[in-house]
Amino acid sequence: MPQPEIVMVGPMPPLVTEQLDAGFTVHKLWLADDPDALIGEISERIVGIATAGHKPVDASFMDRFPNLRIVSNFGVGYDSVDAAHAGTRGVVVTNTPDVLTEEVADTAYGLMLMTVRELSAAERYLRDGKWLDGAYPLTRGSLQNRSLGIVGLGRIGKAIARRAEASGMAVSYHGRSRQSDVAYPYYATAVELARAVDTLMIVVPGGADTQHMIGREVFEALGPEGIVINVGRGSVVDEKALIAALKDGTILSAGLDVFETEPCRPDELIAMDRVVLLPHVGSASIHTRARMGQLVVDNLVETLAGRKPLSPVAETPVG
Ligand code: NAP
Ligand code: 8YV
Repeated sequence: MPQPEIVMVGPMPPLVTEQLDAGFTVHKLWLADDPDALIGEISERIVGIATAGHKPVDASFMDRFPNLRIVSNFGVGYDSVDAAHAGTRGVVVTNTPDVLTEEVADTAYGLMLMTVRELSAAERYLRDGKWLDGAYPLTRGSLQNRSLGIVGLGRIGKAIARRAEASGMAVSYHGRSRQSDVAYPYYATAVELARAVDTLMIVVPGGADTQHMIGREVFEALGPEGIVINVGRGSVVDEKALIAALKDGTILSAGLDVFETEPCRPDELIAMDRVVLLPHVGSASIHTRARMGQLVVDNLVETLAGRKPLSPVAETPVG
């Protein structure tokens, strides 16, 4: 019997590629001389897409595959996939929730601590031999007198909140609605939340609804001791407005794991010593990427065998 045929949009970890190659005929689009011509040849036979947000899996891309049954996304954030369109076509979209929650929360907490206590700059100070001439200046920031506002109190947001509470930080949050089983103070808008805290942790999904939801007004509300940490998506923060707010002292500092364009070399941010910049490494350990990869494989295997996917997204519920 011929194997089911799937398209892989970009490179995936070996654990994923090896298992998919064993169970399916996998068309690796990024290796094709002419990806467009390849899609033309195979389009009718394709039943699955594996993607890691390399390129948008939008309506026009999906519609090239009339017999598509599943888009399996490597990552909990699936803003590069038009899941609403998939839903209208009866195509299931799956992501990789839960298996990365604690890892990303660890990274977010670490990034917050690095930013508030200027740990990257302090380390550079030692490496540059400056310690021999005097101690690193006392930091303006301390977790001990800070309050944390979490924009997006979901799985990862709650795991960050637990870590922040353990450090003695007061936690509050903003989301589209108040969560009845959560005791943290709720603010109906990001601006109101920013007015009430001095440290903002952004961990909402990307996409049209959250595009630039954090901009000038939020920075002004946060104030001159304000620190912004973004581990959600680069598109959520108006990066130009952020750079301006950092330059003119509207806020104190920022820690970023995600950017409006990735990969990037954000020279204006790099020039600011206090700002901490990470190359989208929130979930990037061998341990966690393996768990994410296995979920990508298992979702494809289960769905294409006619069974229920393990982690369908809200727009494409199953069963
Ligand atoms: P989740 O459990 O779905 O949480 C998302 C939260 O965002 C929810 O609490 C939701 O609350 C809130 N939200 C959604 N849309 C919103 C809007 N328009 N305005 C305000 N709040 C909104 O997802 P998760 O597993 O915690 O992951 C969150 C995001 O983190 C992912 O989508 C991804 O973009 C990012 N992420 C980044 C990395 C990294 O490496 N940096 C790794 C993993 C995930 P309401 O429904 O109440 O609004
Ligand atoms: C991954 C992420 O780095 O899960 C997410 O939403 O942003 C990260 O865990 C990314 O999805 C890999 O492509």
